[in-house]
Amino acid sequence: MRRVHKTCAKQNFLLASAVVLLLAGCSSTTAPGQPDAATPTTPAEQTQPAPANAVPNQPAKNAPQPSADQKPDEAPKPSTEPAKGPATKPAQKPAKAPSSYADLPDLEVVAEPESITVLVNKQRQLPDDYEPTDLEFPNVPYLLPEKSVKRQMRKEAAAALEQLFAAAKKDGIALAGVSAYRPHSYQKALFERYVKQDGLEKARTYSAVPGTSEHETGLAIDVSGIDGKCAATSCFAGTKEAKWLAEHAQEYGFIIRYPEGKDAITGYIYEPWHLRYVGNEVAQAISEKHITLEEYFGVVPVSSEK
Ligand code: DAL
Ligand code: ZN
Repeated sequence: MRRVHKTCAKQNFLLASAVVLLLAGCSSTTAPGQPDAATPTTPAEQTQPAPANAVPNQPAKNAPQPSADQKPDEAPKPSTEPAKGPATKPAQKPAKAPSSYADLPDLEVVAEPESITVLVNKQRQLPDDYEPTDLEFPNVPYLLPEKSVKRQMRKEAAAALEQLFAAAKKDGIALAGVSAYRPHSYQKALFERYVKQDGLEKARTYSAVPGTSEHETGLAIDVSGIDGKCAATSCFAGTKEAKWLAEHAQEYGFIIRYPEGKDAITGYIYEPWHLRYVGNEVAQAISEKHITLEEYFGVVPVSSEK
């Protein structure tokens, strides 16, 4: 992955882990980064296996699962001092959480990034240099300039979005697109800005490490009301637009990808504005069962919480 490969040189700048790294020959054995504190969920029933023709990119069943016991205020302080020469004693301190996302472990690379049902998350990244080939400009209102690349979505998702917006309008709900497709370079700049602002651990609760954002697939879009108030912020929850989307998005093949109370599974805080196109069949199943895409694919057990 573009951002994940580590080098000895980089690691040797991390004071806290220099001794460990030298002894380990710069190998990486730590577990994948995990989401922040979240509502714990109780595994209950295992999800039904999805129909083979609906899940062309079924993820590995043994993917690591998020932990719910981390706290936002446990974020590590970035190390600014260089390493102080070769190690002379075995390391005694436990490994610290990465202070840069470049130090996060390698992830599984999705095999079929062009699949409409592709699962991209904190365990599964897009291949290097992946770019969708069928991006289009949906004919819907946006809070973006007319030619912005971020208006784009993949062909099938764009057509479905136009239908969704038209249906909302009929119901008196005027929606606007906020951010759809993001080139990898854009997601990288965005994420790095958030890390500077909030630190790595907190940034990862609401923004995806480049290569792991659904926005890079061209299948996701953030949506707000036409006035742009509360666009992609927590006050969007509870608006009439959010309510309409929660009730109707699945009729057009979209899901609310990061639902409330599921952050221990998805790895992200509640984002009532983030729609992911998965197609009608999968969206209906996910909506009926009140589950996440991870649960649909059986990557994590279905929670008993609704
Ligand atoms: N806000 C979502 C998680 C993203 O950055 O893709
Ligand atoms: Zn989003």
